[in-house]
Amino acid sequence: MSETRIALDRTARVAPVNRRIFGSFVEHLGRCVYDGIYEPGHPTANEDGFRLDVVELVRELGSTTIRYPGGNFVSGFRWEDSVGPRDQRPVRRDLAWHSLESNQVGLDEFARWLALTDSELMLAVNLGTRGIQAALDLLEYANHPSGTALSDWRIANGTPEPHDIRMWCLGNEMDGPWQTGYMTADDYGKLAARTAAAMKMADKDLELVVCGSSGSGMPTFGEWERVVLEHSYEHVDYVSAHAYYQERGGDLGSFLASSVDMQYFIDTVVSTADHVGNRLKSKKKIQISFDEWNIWYLDEHKASEEINDEWRYAPRQLEDVYSAADAVVLGNLMITLLKNHDRVTSASLAQLVNVIAPIMTEPGGAAWRQTTFFPFSVTSRLARGEVLRPRIETGSYETAVYGEADLVDAVATFDEADGSAALFLVNRSLTETQTVRVDVRDLGVSSVREAVSLWDDDVYAKNTMHDQNRVGLRPTPTASLDDGVLTLELPPVSWTGVSLG
Ligand code: AHR
Repeated sequence: MSETRIALDRTARVAPVNRRIFGSFVEHLGRCVYDGIYEPGHPTANEDGFRLDVVELVRELGSTTIRYPGGNFVSGFRWEDSVGPRDQRPVRRDLAWHSLESNQVGLDEFARWLALTDSELMLAVNLGTRGIQAALDLLEYANHPSGTALSDWRIANGTPEPHDIRMWCLGNEMDGPWQTGYMTADDYGKLAARTAAAMKMADKDLELVVCGSSGSGMPTFGEWERVVLEHSYEHVDYVSAHAYYQERGGDLGSFLASSVDMQYFIDTVVSTADHVGNRLKSKKKIQISFDEWNIWYLDEHKASEEINDEWRYAPRQLEDVYSAADAVVLGNLMITLLKNHDRVTSASLAQLVNVIAPIMTEPGGAAWRQTTFFPFSVTSRLARGEVLRPRIETGSYETAVYGEADLVDAVATFDEADGSAALFLVNRSLTETQTVRVDVRDLGVSSVREAVSLWDDDVYAKNTMHDQNRVGLRPTPTASLDDGVLTLELPPVSWTGVSLG
């Protein structure tokens, strides 16, 4: 057993907790929308066809902003197809996922689903096959109160109030050759700048996200951000970041240290954005919208038959089943997002239901929580007030991919208003329990209100349709607070959330 020391200091503030850091993502992909959130024949479906058992789980998950409708899907999407009388909506081919899109769920229905889940919409426009005019039309349809052709069309379609969408994504992953209409950084930067400028002529208070890199391994990573931001800096508010992680070749140790890559990604984008801002003598700082992040066993999906030549409605695609170890990595990625919350002020777990998702469903059947559901929901529920960056003294271990990595990682929040605090920790060791002593004297807290952990003797244990509750949260019986020191033991490959008051 080895020991870790952590000190929490209320002046080590990162930023106030912005609920947008707990966003998620719903794409018209596989069974995320159809046979996921929407299944008209399901016993729990409401009058719009939305499954209320899924709504309940989404509320429990605590996701906030929802990015929609893609993803790769958006780059071939004609938004007009998905509004108006449902029986007149066309069926289209979605080239991104090689499937059929019925358009039975569109912006107006999705906005009603968002109201059920108390979520904010983050809408993406198509800059792959379309451009400025389509973006402006969608903006007019969605946000203009009334008295114009497109706002009156929305009203005629049964949505009298404007959707008032604040956050808009200027396309999706335009650096990726897999993207319909992908571009060079120079071409995209110009198009994004012009689109953003035009959208802000309609509404100067919009918050616009320009596409950054699809991953830190992209050959254009860094240079893409520089060129795109040189064109668009003064017109946009966020640059996006996307990152997916998976265990490769049985190397669990490296996988558990995936946050090292996320930190490198954030550092690179922040320094590039600030370099551009300084060169432009701009007073503003660009924020990062980490609007796709998760565990995704992409290599296995590429090798599978799930995306094939057939044109099918809502095929089963990207339905990863997550293990206890995956949940630990996901919890660690959330710790990293919070540690960088001064610059990463919006994030979306990709995705929400069935497709690389914390929630799974069966048609006509149950909805259940994957292992990754738990660290997300606890972090979203407990993180309040200000994020604090802890001082951590811990051991390290050697990884093949990232070199030396810390055994324990952690982040805290402190709510000055009610004197409560929360601490989120991971133990990445494959073999050793970590005894952790946390000096919380500066916070003035005196009791442990709640302490839960996620771990399993079988790090690959999963929740499946047939065993939906195999992995869940466990109490952390070792957590105790005496004389301003919180002590707890973290089992190998574990995630823990603690609430103090
Ligand atoms: O989330 C799945 C896909 O991953 C999204 O459609 C795309 O943006 C990314 O490559």
